[in-house]
Amino acid sequence: MKPILGLFIVLAVVVFLLPDRSLAEEGDSNKGRALYLKHCEICHGPEGKGDGYTHFNPPVADLTVSRIQNKTDEELGESIHMGVANTAMGMWRFVLSDEEIIAILVHVRSLAAGS
Ligand code: HEC
Repeated sequence: MKPILGLFIVLAVVVFLLPDRSLAEEGDSNKGRALYLKHCEICHGPEGKGDGYTHFNPPVADLTVSRIQNKTDEELGESIHMGVANTAMGMWRFVLSDEEIIAILVHVRSLAAGS
């Protein structure tokens, strides 16, 4: 009886959990994109090229370039969480949950030039 039960559990995992997980990932990247378009596009532009609102000094960062993309997830997450002092880049920690910031960061990574 026991091996059959084990096989049943494995099948249940394959049939139910795996499709769920891939759907969750797809949902997260769509969510990050939607949040980016809602909160960040106005300044950073639709593709993150820093061509949204172009009249700030210092200017809005181009998120596609290696200067930004070479930073670690922690550094970029911190910039989004806390903002960048003395620039138009605001603090998002009261607006977005940590989970939402991570979803946006995944989207920002997908904007990298050549990806
Ligand atoms: C009001 C305009 C504005 C909005 C809205 C805005 N940003 Fe920014 N952002 C800026 C500016 C200006 C800079 C450049 C700061 C500097 O000179 O270091 C910047 C820089 C950045 C950087 C680079 C930080 C670093 O470590 O160098 C990231 C990443 C970033 N923004 C992500 C976001 C995300 C994600 C959102 C949406 C949640 C967002 N920004 C919304 C204006 C904005």
